[in-house]
Amino acid sequence: MNNSIKLTDDVYWVGVNDKETDLFESLWPLPEGIAYNSYIIEDEKIALIDSVKINYNDTFLEKIKNVIGEKKVDYLIINHMEPDHSGSIKSLRQAYPEMEIIGNTKTMGFLEGFYNITEGTRVVKEGDQVDLGSRKLTFYLTPMVHWPETMMTFDEKDKILFAGDAFGGFSSLNGFLFDDEVNIEQYKDEIRRYYSNIIGKYGPVVHNTIKKLKEKIDKIEMIGSTHGLVWRENPMHIVEEYDKWAKQETEEGVVVVYGSMYGNTKAMAEAVARSLSENGIENIKLFDVSRKHSSFIINDIWKYNGLIIGSCTYNTGIFPPMEYLLQSLEIRNLKDRTLGIFGSYSWSGGALGRLKAFQKEVSCKPVEPVIESKFSPDSNTFEQCYELGKNAAEAVKNACEC
Ligand code: FEO
Repeated sequence: MNNSIKLTDDVYWVGVNDKETDLFESLWPLPEGIAYNSYIIEDEKIALIDSVKINYNDTFLEKIKNVIGEKKVDYLIINHMEPDHSGSIKSLRQAYPEMEIIGNTKTMGFLEGFYNITEGTRVVKEGDQVDLGSRKLTFYLTPMVHWPETMMTFDEKDKILFAGDAFGGFSSLNGFLFDDEVNIEQYKDEIRRYYSNIIGKYGPVVHNTIKKLKEKIDKIEMIGSTHGLVWRENPMHIVEEYDKWAKQETEEGVVVVYGSMYGNTKAMAEAVARSLSENGIENIKLFDVSRKHSSFIINDIWKYNGLIIGSCTYNTGIFPPMEYLLQSLEIRNLKDRTLGIFGSYSWSGGALGRLKAFQKEVSCKPVEPVIESKFSPDSNTFEQCYELGKNAAEAVKNACEC
């Protein structure tokens, strides 16, 4: 998609699609790509809102020119300084030397640190406005969604909230831009995967930010994030989804994730999963932690209210890929799940101790029995696995009835 797209008479999307990057932040797989959204408002003054990753400078500048021709950009508004959005700032400054760069106090530290830019800037505070002629833009500071300098910009005329990373998602824009142009259900997993992995640690901040926006802004007609869809048919849908994820509200289902070297822990996990199914759980996700990237596992953990984790022992401790997942969940303050654990070992224990510490660390409801198997699981171990599945099924069903 090389052309700009109109949001309203004077507002255009001039973002780019990235289908070349394999790992976002060198961490997160992008099987569906990602979009870096930027918007331009052509009023008496011209304002550009956020920029794009450095790799796409040329395309980006061309798109801007396609909208405004030989006119100049008066303002660059920076809602977020992470380089997937700020990478083009230096090129923009070269193309439009008189362009004023607008951000908050914290923005300026990043601007100098990343790009050595200290001049031609304007610092704004909560509620400050810039006048473009027929409209004013109002700034709302939203620190830690998910960096300290993050803010949002509201177009008072067209009622568009330019939200930075908030309300965004993975996946490039495959010909579409607006929520009413796609089957949103197809993209929900990639949106939740983005939320749970990139923003998920800051859930309470997201919840409070949403509360503040609802108090301060009467009506939002459209939401333009820096990633993913523009929400115009039902902008509050994505706000409510983000709020739900921020509060860790879940639906009925169980994620079973295991680490297994030679199939013994896998066999226990499969027994637990079978028991869940026999006991009426329809949404079961069974993951091999070595073979499924943690971001996809975390996405489903953010969706469902049950989690059962099993791990083999490795070098007297827990299996390393499982340790990474446990730390990822601890960092994100996982809570309010039914949580079962089981471990296995041959010549030295270790995995179960770490799983017990995890169970203590997170605010989840433990489910019995806690199982530990030595060497291959025997019939007694499998009976316990069935018991764990049965008890977990009852717990998640009861939790959803509450
Ligand atoms: Fe899309 Fe936080 O950068």
